[in-house]
Amino acid sequence: MKIAIIGTGYVGLTTAVVLSYLNHDVAAVDKDESKLTLLHEGKSPIHEPGIQNLLEEVWHTIRFTPSMAEAVPDAELILIAVGTPPKKNGEADTRHVEQAAREVAQVCLPDRHYTLVVKSTVPIGTNQRVVEVVEEVFSGRGIRGNVSVASNPEFLQEGLALQGAFYPDRIVVGANSDKAIDTLRRLYQPILEQTFDPPSEFPRPSAYHLPPLMTTDPNSAEMIKYAANTFLALKISFINEIAGLCEEVDADVTEVARGIGLDARIGHLFLRAGLGWGGSCYPKDTAALLGVAAQSGYKMPITEAARTVNFRQRERIVEKLRSVLHTLEGKTIGIFGLAFKPNTDDIREAPSLDIIRELLAEGAIVRAHDPIAIPNARRALNETHEIDNRLHFIEDAYELAYDTDALVLVTEWEPYHKLELRRLAKQMKTAILIDGRNVYSPEEARTAGFHYIGVGRA
Ligand code: UDX
Repeated sequence: MKIAIIGTGYVGLTTAVVLSYLNHDVAAVDKDESKLTLLHEGKSPIHEPGIQNLLEEVWHTIRFTPSMAEAVPDAELILIAVGTPPKKNGEADTRHVEQAAREVAQVCLPDRHYTLVVKSTVPIGTNQRVVEVVEEVFSGRGIRGNVSVASNPEFLQEGLALQGAFYPDRIVVGANSDKAIDTLRRLYQPILEQTFDPPSEFPRPSAYHLPPLMTTDPNSAEMIKYAANTFLALKISFINEIAGLCEEVDADVTEVARGIGLDARIGHLFLRAGLGWGGSCYPKDTAALLGVAAQSGYKMPITEAARTVNFRQRERIVEKLRSVLHTLEGKTIGIFGLAFKPNTDDIREAPSLDIIRELLAEGAIVRAHDPIAIPNARRALNETHEIDNRLHFIEDAYELAYDTDALVLVTEWEPYHKLELRRLAKQMKTAILIDGRNVYSPEEARTAGFHYIGVGRA
């Protein structure tokens, strides 16, 4: 199938590469010249496990272009995967989605049918707005045009994007047109029926079942995306709230999570207590959902509370440091992990940034490490801080520990699980370890000489 994908961010690029691997004819459009330069050189502009190899594998078929006129007219299906950044009031800004739809409609041929799919996460009602935008352009061009608009929300998890694209739990399509549903069914057929040969890096999981294609109306499809993200966000916030109480009553939240997770109705996933969620989705999407609700005058106290608990986790870590060190002024704190989660260099809404900003504000010296996110973090922090002499990025974890008053584990990168704790502790001025993700065994850390403090662990 001939496909045009608008936007080559995490969602657009992953989708483009995967659909190309599934033998579709893909042209991806992006206006960002620096991204296009990299893509034309065969380099992925995003850090995502496996994407570079897969991009090289499909290199002979996939095309990247700044031109809608080159990608769209011949396509049967057009996917919009542009960003929906938050506005000042938290609502999602759909300007780029509308603009993409407008530009697509400007180059559609009058005598062809197109399925125009919104993959970006958008407020409820956006698909309807896209229908209107397309019709406005067609009437301006004096043509009737033939476009079916559909919603196909994306459930991509950074760090696991390709795995999730090849082996999704479900595919959701919201459309009022049977033709659009049929086109999307044909698009995803290799995934729905698992007829493709898995890439070597992404073998089919042994217990994997064929994913259902759920079809529904566009508004419900748009709501499914927000509801899924908000539910996962509040599941994490719930266990973090329980973690705080565990600290008060001398219980261990990792045991509690294990115990409740064994109940099939609850499930064990997304019950890891710690520094909570960051990234480009949960903070933005929970705020956007509250924005949608506010427009209807509807209150969502559970979603609001999930956000409050989440951001409190970051403050609580700094409180823990304050309580063991008495003051942060002049103290040297080592930070392990800057990315909002492992296997990505994405630092959007990362807990590390808030924690570092607070430590610097209280007069601490910060030494920070991350396997790949240092350049992004340096950029983000330098924009707001000219306190370079108190903020240092260190490439080696053991060197970072040297002469520090405390270490804080912020992101649970795999290499941090394997650090020699005894060696770390010996480098430090005072061997204090605040484990923000409950990565280490408290006994092991204490045996290695650390004063160990986790999240929700006695
Ligand atoms: C999320 C959704 O998983 C995905 O379906 C959606 O399309 C986009 O948002 P992502 O933001 O990439 O994906 O990461 P995810 O793996 O869901 O983790 C989000 C945050 O929650 C991370 O900061 C992670 O550290 C945190 N988290 C996750 C926890 O604190 N505890 C957990 O048990 C799980």
